[in-house]
Amino acid sequence: MNKVIACAPGKSILFGEHAVVHGYPAIALAISLVSSCEIEQIPEKRVELCLKNSNKFYKQDNAEKLIEELPKKYKQISTCLRLFQQNYELIFENTKITIASQLFKSAGLGSSASIAVALVEAINAFHELNLTKSEVSDIAYEMEKVVHGTPSGIDNTICTFGNVIHYQNKEFVFIPLSKEVKLLITFTNASHDTKRAIEKVRKFKMTHLEKCEEIFTQIGEIALEGKQRLKEGDLQSLGELMNENQELLEQLGVSNKIISKINEIALKNGAFGSKLTGAGLGGCVISVGEDDTLYYLEKLLKGKGFPCFVANSDNVGVRSVKKE
Ligand code: MEV
Repeated sequence: MNKVIACAPGKSILFGEHAVVHGYPAIALAISLVSSCEIEQIPEKRVELCLKNSNKFYKQDNAEKLIEELPKKYKQISTCLRLFQQNYELIFENTKITIASQLFKSAGLGSSASIAVALVEAINAFHELNLTKSEVSDIAYEMEKVVHGTPSGIDNTICTFGNVIHYQNKEFVFIPLSKEVKLLITFTNASHDTKRAIEKVRKFKMTHLEKCEEIFTQIGEIALEGKQRLKEGDLQSLGELMNENQELLEQLGVSNKIISKINEIALKNGAFGSKLTGAGLGGCVISVGEDDTLYYLEKLLKGKGFPCFVANSDNVGVRSVKKE
């Protein structure tokens, strides 16, 4: 029986979230935690879907019935199945799909994008479709739109290609690093709603056009400067730029008290910089500093009830292996 396992990394936005939705540059780094999707051939003429993190299992005679049964919150998955049925004439029979993720859900780490990318790549590898990474990313983007409304496309891109990228208006380039960047990632214990956060910023833009454009422009400039500091491996300056980006995100209205509290703890205890990552209004905070500082902070913040971990970058992006 055939079996395929695909993995895609999560991500962290170092600079430029929200502004990137409006066409400004942003910098994203793929992190070492992944989502995975396993597809295996089963003897029964049916399709099974196992969602490990939510402990859910669905079983139907065919994909059409499965799509009908799936609750709205899994619309991303049904969109994917339908898309492959229609555009590639795939029939999901004798198939078991298992999806799992190491990422906090709705927390700014790209869990939905990395699941989407892993699922698309698993289907690609299982059915030997020979899709390129760009095609995998494009399909994942269609799935992202279903959940997030008008995403910039940065999440599916970084989860597909890995590494560190400069992203703007659906185009990206890799940023070569002179030194590995470790991030302390701290969960605020509150998940967020990306669609709502994007909407909030859009409303702010409608009511404060000039101010908003000014903030976006500054964020864009910080992102470009951050790109240089990353190339040089200058962590101290990188941290300072992250602090500036955080201030601008506060002005956009997407930070909150818990994010500020975590930033304050991180900065008081030696981090070079700390900011929210992703949509904000909850989710995760990222901090940079010397390795010792990050591991010290990890203990400290865990002691205060904030789940956190030190992440390395992922330099591969989506990948899959086939097992006969
Ligand atoms: C991406 O992780 C966060 C936002 O910039 C939305 C997007 O770019 O699609 C807020």
